[in-house]
Amino acid sequence: MTATVQEETQDRYAPADPSGLPRHVAIIMDGNGRWAALRGLPRTEGHRNGVKTVRQIVRRAGELGIQYLTLFAFSSENWSRPHAEVKFLMGLLRAYVRSDLKDLRESNVRIRVIGSRDGLDPGILSLLEQAEQGTADCTGLELVLAFNYGARDEMVRAVRQLSLEVARGGKQPEEITSADIESHLDTAGLPDPDLIIRTSGEQRLSNFLLWQAAYAEFYFAPMHWPDFDCSAFEEALSCFKNRERRFGGVGAAVST
Ligand code: FPP
Repeated sequence: MTATVQEETQDRYAPADPSGLPRHVAIIMDGNGRWAALRGLPRTEGHRNGVKTVRQIVRRAGELGIQYLTLFAFSSENWSRPHAEVKFLMGLLRAYVRSDLKDLRESNVRIRVIGSRDGLDPGILSLLEQAEQGTADCTGLELVLAFNYGARDEMVRAVRQLSLEVARGGKQPEEITSADIESHLDTAGLPDPDLIIRTSGEQRLSNFLLWQAAYAEFYFAPMHWPDFDCSAFEEALSCFKNRERRFGGVGAAVST
């Protein structure tokens, strides 16, 4: 790798903040159903309490000066859940955007939605677009909602788009670079996540940001999402601070 490419790579992933805060945190909010089951409650109560955690973590991330927070709100595979649960989750997302949009705007939070918009209920689609447009001039935390998102689906859509460009003669196959792939992903323009957190003790990516996670640090929190509070979040951030990121290199200790 040339020095320039190496600098670019480090710029994409290295925390911008000298305090060691990750620039971009992405979270798989897992365990709502188990949280509810442990209390003898319906799964929907777990999701309802999960929204309370969303509010707390979004607020704290903004206060701390984290620049990007991506939340896995609904995956392209979540449609296979019972119809009533899917309907409830859609209702929760709708209610969240309706009730919190004004506060988010006042807190200078900019919303961006990633995931496939094909076939989405027109009411949800227009609400999500309203959230993006209504916060487009905010300059604080960028809250990225992964909704109807699946990383393989995102990559398939990107490859289809690039293939079209090749077929139309705008580009030769051998000219395709990783920057071209990135610019066709839903996350185009966002830095890759520095830290990916998953709650509830599960240790897998579940089709989340597969391309973007290439050099992410992972943190697996044991508690279920509704119990993931600000102190658990800060614990994850503090753990991140102590990670040594090498981006395929050898690290500071042996770099001379
Ligand atoms: C995983 O728990 C959680 C989800 C599939 C949905 C996450 C959604 C929310 C927290 C609420 C809506 C989000 C926003 C941004 C307003 P699970 O149901 O898979 O839990 P389990 O593994 O214990 O069954």
